[in-house]
Amino acid sequence: MGVALPSQVPRRWFRHAILLAIFALLLFYLCAWSLSALSGCGSEAQSCIPKGLLPLQIQQQSGTLEAPEREEPQCLGPQGMLSRMMKPFHASLNPQGDVELSQYLAGWRELIRFLTPFGSIFAFATSEAFSKVKDLEAQVHGPDAAHYTSLVGMVAWERRAGLLERPGIAPQDSARSSGSRTMLLLHRALRWSQLCLHRVATGSRGGPDAGEQCSDAYNTALGPHHAWLVRQAAHLAFLAFPGRGRLLELACPGSREAEARAALARAAGTLEDVYNRTQGLLAERGLLQLA
Ligand SMILES: *[C@@H]1O[C@H](CO)[C@@H](O)[C@H](O)[C@H]1NC(C)=O
Repeated sequence: MGVALPSQVPRRWFRHAILLAIFALLLFYLCAWSLSALSGCGSEAQSCIPKGLLPLQIQQQSGTLEAPEREEPQCLGPQGMLSRMMKPFHASLNPQGDVELSQYLAGWRELIRFLTPFGSIFAFATSEAFSKVKDLEAQVHGPDAAHYTSLVGMVAWERRAGLLERPGIAPQDSARSSGSRTMLLLHRALRWSQLCLHRVATGSRGGPDAGEQCSDAYNTALGPHHAWLVRQAAHLAFLAFPGRGRLLELACPGSREAEARAALARAAGTLEDVYNRTQGLLAERGLLQLA
């Protein structure tokens, strides 16, 4: 009938629009999470941290185990959202200088759990990351599990077995992507999360809001790898990003702002450690262009 035919095309567009909207939501979600730190503090983040936070910073940098003078906020306690995320990520950095995949993925699961309450925009972003986490988990627990315990081992095995994609060529079915490529995509999303969180944590009052900071982080970490249309959708999504206060409250419920900022900055620091090591390992193996 005359009605059925024309509806085909709009329906396809409708599907694309929904996919785009979902993607935008996902991006938002990730950003909201890391949003608070960006405003003008870029390379000199420390100068944006209120003076009151310095003891914690120093303690963190010198790696001492001394108890801080004040009690730690609940979000850094054993059941705290941030410490639950930092623990596995920290454990993924093994003494051999490699990245343990099961711990890395456990960290990602907590990161996603952390981002989820930030709203529907992030739900989109996290569902994307979540599917990658599940893809890689399937390999870590699959028939070739012995080759998927660490990043270095995985890359060596996939290279030997001829499983690596050619640079810049996406696999037909993303679920059949090599573990190395899936890792690279998660790695970029981690960078975005880390930058957003750091900026939300250290951004000055009256500076750019969290949405702007996370949008900037998006431009740095993910935008260059996304198609034009996706970038536009992402920028729209950032307009609805939660404010810094809300992000801090979700990260560290019941804490004062200075404490919440310090805790979030620490969490971002852990993500940065993981990012730096992964970046080094992928770069040495020429894998940063894999996708
Ligand atoms: C990560 O690497 C960058 C660039 O090499 C460096 O400036 C930064 O201090 C490193 N961060 C951490 C947490 O080690």
